[in-house]
Amino acid sequence: MTDLQDIFGLHGRTALVTGSSRGIGAAIAQGLSAAGATVVVHGQTLSATDAIRESLQLTGRKVYALGADLSMRGQGRELIETAENLAGQLDILVVNASAQVNAPLEALTDDDLDFQLNVNLRSTVEMLRTCLPSMATRGWGRVVNIGSINQLRPKSVVTAYAATKAAQHNLIQSQARDYARHGVLLNTLAPGLIDTDRNAQAKASDPAAWTRYAEQLNWMGRAGEAQEMVGAALFLSSNACSFMTGESIVLSGGY
Ligand SMILES: NC(=O)c1ccc[n+]([C@@H]2O[C@H](COP(=O)([O-])OP(=O)(O)OC[C@H]3O[C@@H](n4cnc5c(N)ncnc54)[C@H](OP(=O)(O)O)[C@@H]3O)[C@@H](O)[C@H]2O)c1
Repeated sequence: MTDLQDIFGLHGRTALVTGSSRGIGAAIAQGLSAAGATVVVHGQTLSATDAIRESLQLTGRKVYALGADLSMRGQGRELIETAENLAGQLDILVVNASAQVNAPLEALTDDDLDFQLNVNLRSTVEMLRTCLPSMATRGWGRVVNIGSINQLRPKSVVTAYAATKAAQHNLIQSQARDYARHGVLLNTLAPGLIDTDRNAQAKASDPAAWTRYAEQLNWMGRAGEAQEMVGAALFLSSNACSFMTGESIVLSGGY
């Protein structure tokens, strides 16, 4: 008989989820923790992680918390090193934190471009090159990159953000190829519109327009919930994902 613990269970695994102080990252951190992983939660500042850290501690599971601003050069590397000093070597990295500036090309400032490149791409390069070699040495690792429907179907209002998401997945694919024979599998989970703080301002400023937008955006006619990302993230983080690497799973409600 198949033991689901052997397939989806994460006992004995250690995971870092970047940007897990809220939204999709917080839901994924809770999911990985419920599956048995020791989880390192992260936000721009340590205090941003207070609520998620306390809620995970209440379950009695092992949790650590770190703050780091990933727009700063070197912070991706330092985050991995600090997490490993604190919690032990990482088996699972969920690259979830991202910066998004809504601006079409003609309105995009140099600073906004640099900001999105730094958080979304450079910190991902830094984190991957810090954690992949030791995952390979131990013969097991999972990287779950949180991409976006915009990596496939870019909207001009998020031109630079969409391009960084496409580049991030390209990076995942090249490393997936390099590490495939070492038991280290890297994939992207690409959400569509999800009801998180990221969209809170648009939703609050004109709730009716937000609902109309969500209704026409995808086949299901609604925004997704952060919780709806957890099952696919758990799959990609676990032994259940054993013959898939360098791919994307799109969770968009049909697009
Ligand atoms: N929501 C959507 O509709 C949607 C759609 C497609 C893809 N996604 C992707 O899904 C992921 C999560 O999105 P979300 O909606 O859950 O985001 P969110 O609610 O805006 O939360 C963003 C998270 O990233 C962290 N973060 C932001 N800037 C950072 C920086 N410079 N350094 C370190 N951490 C930083 C935040 O930390 P603090 O709490 O400390 O600020 C927070 O934990 C992102 O990669 C996003 O691109 C989201």
